[in-house]
Amino acid sequence: MRSLLILVVLLTPLVAFGAEPPEVKRVSPAAARDRAELLHGVFADTLGVVHHHYFRREGAVLPSRALEDVFAKLDRQSGTKARWIAVNTPAMSVNHEPATAFEKSAAAALAGGKTEFSRVENGYYLRAGAIPLGGGCVGCHTRQAPGADKTPRMAALVIAIPVKDE
Ligand code: HEC
Repeated sequence: MRSLLILVVLLTPLVAFGAEPPEVKRVSPAAARDRAELLHGVFADTLGVVHHHYFRREGAVLPSRALEDVFAKLDRQSGTKARWIAVNTPAMSVNHEPATAFEKSAAAALAGGKTEFSRVENGYYLRAGAIPLGGGCVGCHTRQAPGADKTPRMAALVIAIPVKDE
């Protein structure tokens, strides 16, 4: 697990862009969209790599939990926020239940087949992107045996980026 911690530490400078707190750097909604897509790709790929190389079964630091430490740093450093939500599997932590109206609409849209759902609301560009839960994931994330149900299962990553008025 030391390697996992090193990976997370290495990843941290990647998210250390933007203004120092408390000043929040606001970008246009178009730039926010690009940035949210980039962050989604970085975090989704990191989640996959960490599961593949470092995580086998219970007892270890969960990859999604390790990434939440990176999300917290991102929040402090740039005012950008990231968080996991459950979509069509039971939330594995009460903190991952879709909570806001945006998150509930996003979970419904992704469960219905969309790969992303976005909106500008209260000074933030909000983007929820699907995180597929494949054969190696559903055994833990659902109570069913892998392959017992053909419905594609997923969670989502919600990214919020401060935007300026256009
Ligand atoms: C050994 C069981 C196990 C396996 C296998 C597993 N997970 Fe998880 N996963 C968990 C647990 C437990 C949590 C809750 C962690 C916490 O307390 O924050 C979680 C949380 C998550 C979350 C946050 C959303 C939620 O539903 O709570 C995502 C995203 C996620 N896992 C993705 C994956 C992916 C992708 C895979 C397969 C590559 C996978 N997991 C495999 C146990 C597992």
